[in-house]
Amino acid sequence: MPDSTAVDADEYRRMAAAGASHWWYRNTRELLAQLLVPHLQGREQPLLLDAGGGTGATGGWMARYGATVLADVEPMALDVARTDFDAARHGGHGVLPVQADLNRLPFADASFDLVLCVTALCHRMNPDPAAIVRDFARITKPGGVVCLWEPGGRRLWRGHDEVTHTGRRFAVRDLRDMAEAGGLQVQRATGAYSFLVPPAAVLGVLERGKQTSDVGRAESGLGGLFPALARVERRLLRRVDLPAGLSAIVVATKP
Ligand SMILES: C[S@@+](CC[C@H](N)C(=O)[O-])C[C@H]1O[C@@H](n2cnc3c(N)ncnc32)[C@H](O)[C@@H]1O
Repeated sequence: MPDSTAVDADEYRRMAAAGASHWWYRNTRELLAQLLVPHLQGREQPLLLDAGGGTGATGGWMARYGATVLADVEPMALDVARTDFDAARHGGHGVLPVQADLNRLPFADASFDLVLCVTALCHRMNPDPAAIVRDFARITKPGGVVCLWEPGGRRLWRGHDEVTHTGRRFAVRDLRDMAEAGGLQVQRATGAYSFLVPPAAVLGVLERGKQTSDVGRAESGLGGLFPALARVERRLLRRVDLPAGLSAIVVATKP
C-alpha cells in the first residue's frame, strides 16, 4: 500500500460499517456536538467544512446545522459520505463531498463558519500539519471556529496507528501551539478518552510491530464500560479541560 493512500481500503469499509454503531464514534459525535453546537447556533446559513472527513462518521452530523462540505482525498470515502448524508433522504442540509488535498485546499479566504478536522493531520501524507492549520485559519471567516481532534499522547503508539498510516500523535500542547501559530484564539485545549490511556499503553507494548485496527473490535466498549466512562468524562468536560487523553482536542476562534 503506497503512503499516498491515507488508510488501508479495508479500514474505510470498517469505518463506514462502524460509524453508526461503534461506541467510540457515537461518543465522539456526542462530545463534538457538546463542544461545537454552541458555536453553530444563531449563525445564518452557516457553511461548514469537515476536513479529511472520510465517510462523515464524526462530522456528518453537522449537516443538521448548515451546509457541510466534506473534503477528502479518498473517492471511496466520499461515495460513502454522499450516500449516508444525502439531504433528500436524511433531512438537514446534506453533505457535499469534495475531493481535495488538505495540503492544497481549494477554498477561498474566509469561506467557512466552522472547520472541523478529526484524525487527519496525523497522517503520513501530511508532512507539515502546522501549515494545514494555518490554511484552516485562512479559509475560516472572522468569528468562525476551527476544531482540531487528533490522536493524543505522542508515545501511545499502537497497531491501529500502523493500519491508519498515522505519522504522529499529538500532545494537547502541540495542537494549541499550531492553532496559536495560525493566528487563532484557543477557547478549549483538552485531552479526551483519558481513561483509555492505561489500556492503550499496555496494547502498545503487546502490539509492537503489528498492524491491528481498533475499528472492527470492541464495538460495545467492553460491554458498555467505555461508553459509561466516556459519559462521565463528557460531563467533566463541560466544566474543565483535561491535560491529556487518547485524543487531543483544540477548539479555537478566528479573531
Ligand atoms: C482516520 S480517517 C478520519 C476520517 C473522519 N475525519 C472521521 O473521523 O471518521 C482520516 C481521513 O483523513 C483523510 N486525509 C488524510 N490526509 C489528507 C489530506 N492531506 N487530504 C485529504 N484528506 C486527507 C483520509 O483520506 C481519511 O479519510
